[in-house]
Amino acid sequence: MTEICLIIAFVFCLFINACLTGFQIQAYSSSKLRLSHNLDEERRNLEPLIQTIHLKYQRKHNDITGFEPGDNAAPFQIKTLDGEFNYPVQKKSSVVIHAFTNKSAFLECLWSSNASLTDLVEYLPENTHALFLSLDDSAAEDALWMREQVYHIASASHRGKDVLSRLHFSPVPVFALGNWIPKVLYSWGCSGHNCGLAQAVFTSIAWNIPVIAKRLNARYDWLNGHWDQKPYRLRDGGDGCSPASSVAGAVAWVTDSGCSFFTKVKNMAASKAVGVLVYASTGHPIKDMDCIGEECYTALGIPAAMVHLEASVDNILRAGKEVNVSFQTTPSPNFFFGIDQQGVLCETGWLLYPTFRFLSWQAQWFEYQEGLREHLERPATVVPVFDRVQMQGEHGAQATVDLPTGGLDYNVLELDASLSCPGRRDETCAHWDHTVQLFVCCDHFSPYCNMELGRWISAFRRGIGRWITDVSPLMPLLNNGRCTFTMKTVPWAMPWVVTLNLRFSQSNQSAILIKETGNVERLQPFKLTSLFDGGTFDKGYNKRFQPLKFTIPTSTKKVELYAVITGHGSDEYGCGEFCVTSHHFLVNGIYNNTRIFDSAGSALGCALRVAEGAVPNEHGTWLYGRGGWCDGLQVNPWRVDLTNQLDWSGANSIHYFGLYEGMDPNPSSNPGYIVMCSYLVFYK
Ligand SMILES: *[C@@H]1O[C@H](CO)[C@@H](O)[C@H](O)[C@H]1NC(C)=O
Ligand SMILES: *[C@@H]1O[C@H](CO)[C@@H](O)[C@H](O)[C@H]1NC(C)=O
Ligand SMILES: *[C@@H]1O[C@H](CO)[C@@H](O)[C@H](O)[C@H]1NC(C)=O
Ligand SMILES: *[C@@H]1O[C@H](CO)[C@@H](O)[C@H](O)[C@H]1NC(C)=O
Ligand SMILES: *[C@@H]1O[C@H](CO)[C@@H](O)[C@H](O)[C@H]1NC(C)=O
Repeated sequence: MTEICLIIAFVFCLFINACLTGFQIQAYSSSKLRLSHNLDEERRNLEPLIQTIHLKYQRKHNDITGFEPGDNAAPFQIKTLDGEFNYPVQKKSSVVIHAFTNKSAFLECLWSSNASLTDLVEYLPENTHALFLSLDDSAAEDALWMREQVYHIASASHRGKDVLSRLHFSPVPVFALGNWIPKVLYSWGCSGHNCGLAQAVFTSIAWNIPVIAKRLNARYDWLNGHWDQKPYRLRDGGDGCSPASSVAGAVAWVTDSGCSFFTKVKNMAASKAVGVLVYASTGHPIKDMDCIGEECYTALGIPAAMVHLEASVDNILRAGKEVNVSFQTTPSPNFFFGIDQQGVLCETGWLLYPTFRFLSWQAQWFEYQEGLREHLERPATVVPVFDRVQMQGEHGAQATVDLPTGGLDYNVLELDASLSCPGRRDETCAHWDHTVQLFVCCDHFSPYCNMELGRWISAFRRGIGRWITDVSPLMPLLNNGRCTFTMKTVPWAMPWVVTLNLRFSQSNQSAILIKETGNVERLQPFKLTSLFDGGTFDKGYNKRFQPLKFTIPTSTKKVELYAVITGHGSDEYGCGEFCVTSHHFLVNGIYNNTRIFDSAGSALGCALRVAEGAVPNEHGTWLYGRGGWCDGLQVNPWRVDLTNQLDWSGANSIHYFGLYEGMDPNPSSNPGYIVMCSYLVFYK
């Protein structure tokens, strides 16, 4: 089931988006504005909501002492190989907690792969402690073994000593801890790659009971076949390094030696096997079966997994007797959870394949959250727009609010937005990644009505996202004291629970003019000119755009280009989601202002942006780089100062074009599309 889910998630990104070609949320048009209200009275009533200066970040869950994500972690002590682990840790730190069991092939691989252990040593953030437990009777040996595994890698790294000082191994099994930790591990439901016990079940008339072996499926983004819920015939395929007609119609049983995983699966697929089970020879650990380089571009079309050598299975097969194999996942306790710097219990999401890098990403997110908290303590006038409002369907979430008076004193506007889920666990979250847009209308007769103020992409099934986006140049959209905000995604998406605060403040760092005297003059955006939007990214894409002529209004002191651009859909080159596109705003025929989405399609393009707020460990292919966006992240506006590119006394022109690898897009079918809003921003 889980494999199927992920494949659907993946296919969804690649293909379904293409069905949405041209999708763009229609600008909201409201004819129902309540014009007759007494604005002053309303404004007075709303005043308490407009909290000025130093709004402390409030922890919602302060007094809740349960065991759900968001609850506070109570203090605890746990005996470790080196003494005792005491929570809370003195220095403000986050903790990731992992309970090992060797009944899981995923976890066996997590702890025996050098790449995984190297990721632990190289990437565990400095403020993070890791507590390693075992679910089994063998906890003492497990703890010694886990520590031994990391020692080997850590001793060769300059980070080794420091990281080891933050790793804690407990010889006491989880079932004997006597504190609340087991409660969390046992009660937090979990399904997916890193949860549950994936197994192969072998049956033969020679045995009364089946032989059940732990299994690890091949890497999710390499072999996209999946195991059916039925028994398969198992047949010996030797080492799989050459074709074997005997495996036709069966699952091939092959050794781990002689050639690459790719060669084995390719040969067995060519021999018409319906799946492959590679067994680790005695003494060898289970490995994460993956492709290397060019291999990854050959679709093999059958599933594969790795198990340990089962002598009884091997003997019976060699004796020419019938063996069947089927595939199951037995539920298990959760193997991972975290405690953030504020002492709050957190889920750690999906580990798509066995590497500690995923725990590091979660811990990196904890660091990001701390930074966000600090940012929120800066002085600002905060205007709440949505407080845990459900966003779903045609209308999304909508609210009308009063803006602070004295608007001209502010030159910074930030959106503080979060997308969470109806319940407290990630399992209640919407499954798919969709574009989320915020529109604002303050004056129905203004051309600025229902322009886009912010854009995000929702996470695959994780409810922790919170981001601050600086949209200061768009302040002219707020051209009235009372504005209606509409936040929406595709109407068929499952609900998200949105919180949105506007943060107005003053800055001497941005939107300023440094005078000859060295003094700083704060500037104010006062006019926007809408430029180009995107559209279908096909052969005709650039023909749609004509150069725009403009002159600079008097009293202007600075001119900026502001654009929010995302690529979606999937043509044969993966455009616009997974292909490298570039976007050019040519000013006066000379200045080629260029933005290139060069990480689109790269394996870790978005995983590397966790420190910027990309939600880690989502239940989908969140790791891949994308065309100007990431799942579970705000879309960063692109800003370019054009002041020195312009003719201040005469006519100017600006022209946009978008390219695929430096040329006009030219897909043969199924073109992708670009969602863009772009403006000239005039400051005075
Ligand atoms: C884990 O299980 C495998 C096979 O069942 C075995 O070879 C290995 O020694 C075990 N490792 C530990 C640490 O118990
Ligand atoms: C893993 O790393 C250890 C220590 O660096 C080394 O001895 C061992 O050969 C490595 N194993 C593999 C499979 O690369
Ligand atoms: C194997 O599966 C086939 C087809 O489902 C079934 O007819 C046969 O009895 C099974 N054999 C064993 C040994 O389980
Ligand atoms: C910004 O600069 C002005 C004048 O240069 C100064 O009065 C003001 O205190 C500064 N504000 C901040 C937030 O630094
Ligand atoms: C702008 O730059 C891109 C590449 O960076 C190039 O392909 C394009 O031709 C340039 N356009 C102009 C008009 O200079």
